[in-house]
Amino acid sequence: MTASSKKIPRHVAIIMDGNGRWAKQRGKARLEGHRAGAESVRAIVRACGELGIEYLTLYAFSSENWNRPRAEVSALMHLLEFYLKQEIPELDKNNVRLAAIGRIHELPGSAQKQLAKSIEALSKNTGLTLVLALSYGGRAELVDATREIARMVKAGQIDIADIDDKLISQHLYTRGIPDPDLLVRTSGELRVSNFLLWQISYAEIYVTDVLWPDFRKPELVKACEAFGKRHRRFGLVNQEDK
Ligand code: IPE
Ligand code: IPE
Ligand code: MG
Repeated sequence: MTASSKKIPRHVAIIMDGNGRWAKQRGKARLEGHRAGAESVRAIVRACGELGIEYLTLYAFSSENWNRPRAEVSALMHLLEFYLKQEIPELDKNNVRLAAIGRIHELPGSAQKQLAKSIEALSKNTGLTLVLALSYGGRAELVDATREIARMVKAGQIDIADIDDKLISQHLYTRGIPDPDLLVRTSGELRVSNFLLWQISYAEIYVTDVLWPDFRKPELVKACEAFGKRHRRFGLVNQEDK
């Protein structure tokens, strides 16, 4: 599959799951699974650029993940900060732009600072946009958008009748980013776990049993090939059935 393939998804969103199980299978600590998962992030970001995918959104840390044991949360935050710092040259070389969605202000101060630095360092790039979902929850996002819109109504800036799909989309963390075409979940769970609830309305869903640390370019190509065979109808009827 090449960048010129017609049916390459423009935006791929991934629920990167299975790091813990990967580690357990090897008798290792969960953190080792997260480290191996970071290697997959590196490989998949590069592969997305090579395939001509424009947006890659990675579910890296959910609102609910704060409730994991303190040591794991802290290790994940350190890993995030380390990744953000270490990867700048490689991301830059690959012309990758960086963005983040979620309640970023809930991250540790040093991670927030590094995130802002990395976003700034890569802001002039024009290739793949890598969107990291951090302290992200789809419900929290809708709550935040609702509050903002309610404030605008209260201030008399808009009428209730002005609230439509477009206005809501413009108040989500993902404003300016097209909706995902393909949603991938690794490690076999058949659920969305509070990810991009609004944005995945018409995404094609691909679930693989492969654990995230084992998900590398050949697995991404398989997901894109499956996507290429789907018939997206968006509620309409097939051309041939008219
Ligand atoms: C995904 O792997 C990484 C995060 C959620 C941060 P998990 O840590 O959820 O791995 P499993 O599901 O326990 O295997
Ligand atoms: C979803 O994975 C969150 C991320 C990948 C960051 P989880 O492992 O947290 O989801 P559940 O608990 O299986 O639903
Ligand atoms: Mg999990």
